[in-house]
Amino acid sequence: MKVKKIDALEILNSAGNKTIEVHVKTEKGDFFSSIPSGTSKSKFEKFFCVEDEIKKIKKISKKIKQINFNSIADIIKFENEHNSLAISFALMKALAAKKNIPVWKLIDKKAKKFPIIVSKMIGGGKHAKYPEFQEFLVFTETNDLNEMIENNLLVQNRLKEVLNGDFIFSWDLEGGWALRITIEEAFSVLEKAIQSIDRKMKMGVDIAASSFYDKDGEMYIYNQRELNRDEQIDYVSNLIERFNLAYIEDPLEQEDFDGFAELKKRFGNRCLIVGDDLTATSVERIKIANEKNAINASIIKPNQIYSLNETIEFSRLAEKFKYKRIISHRSEETCDNIISDIGFGLGCEMFKISVRTGERVSKINRLLKIKEEVYG
Ligand code: PGA
Ligand code: ZN
Repeated sequence: MKVKKIDALEILNSAGNKTIEVHVKTEKGDFFSSIPSGTSKSKFEKFFCVEDEIKKIKKISKKIKQINFNSIADIIKFENEHNSLAISFALMKALAAKKNIPVWKLIDKKAKKFPIIVSKMIGGGKHAKYPEFQEFLVFTETNDLNEMIENNLLVQNRLKEVLNGDFIFSWDLEGGWALRITIEEAFSVLEKAIQSIDRKMKMGVDIAASSFYDKDGEMYIYNQRELNRDEQIDYVSNLIERFNLAYIEDPLEQEDFDGFAELKKRFGNRCLIVGDDLTATSVERIKIANEKNAINASIIKPNQIYSLNETIEFSRLAEKFKYKRIISHRSEETCDNIISDIGFGLGCEMFKISVRTGERVSKINRLLKIKEEVYG
């Protein structure tokens, strides 16, 4: 496949901040890709500057036309030289069109297992201010894609009834409800909503603990309290027991591998201890997590490391370490739905994606189309 033209444009993400859209033109047509961003980012993420990316793309616009892209390996070779996830994604779409296959088949032609959809029901933390924990999540352990989506939607709608009209319902940044309630109240209403629809569903939470951790004082400051590390571990342990939580993401700040390991020791047999800010889709950091026996599941966000190559390697390692791999949206999304193909192609066991708001629903809808592509 030869590229006829490449260019880039500054566009807006779902939070109204600027990001990049790359446009690749081939004989098969025009292919676009854009990059999401986060609000509660890990300090280990790779950041890119939109203006610099646009300049970079102008600079390589002649060179890219001389290359013949025939495989993911060719795209990765180019990425290793020019370091741009946005270009890799657009090239993947163009190459898939050239081969007349969906994007996920470029990664694994035989992929067929759908990830469990983990959806945000109530938002907080940096995404909505209250409650202080960032994401109250639900999921159903089934391989029936439609059932998972339906259950998550049912719970989200039922929350309105459980809260009985006393609240103004608005969206947080990721298609969860933004409500002025406490952490315990959020778990309680979620539990009630799940019970009321009578389906077998599990609850989880992304604590995003770095967002309220005071590094100098080494304290977790929230809920009008200050907790030291042991107190934070005990509080989280208490919540896992009390609400039978099956998923805990970033319960401690992003450098505390040992604290994660303590929670894994206590609950690893019945609760996913998930690294996100901790692991940051970084090969170096997932190796440390493994040495420290810190987690049993990890978030995968390609834009967090801004590399297709490292995302694939990270996923390979996570699989080798027997971690559950959770491909994930960001709080500042675009309507690009390529992560649905990436997550499905990599065989990720879970997909953290909300079932509401356009930029999220586009990814859910892409999964529904992938189901058609796989099963007809
Ligand atoms: P972010 O948060 O996209 O705002 O960084 C998402 C998460 O922490 O999972
Ligand atoms: Zn997170």
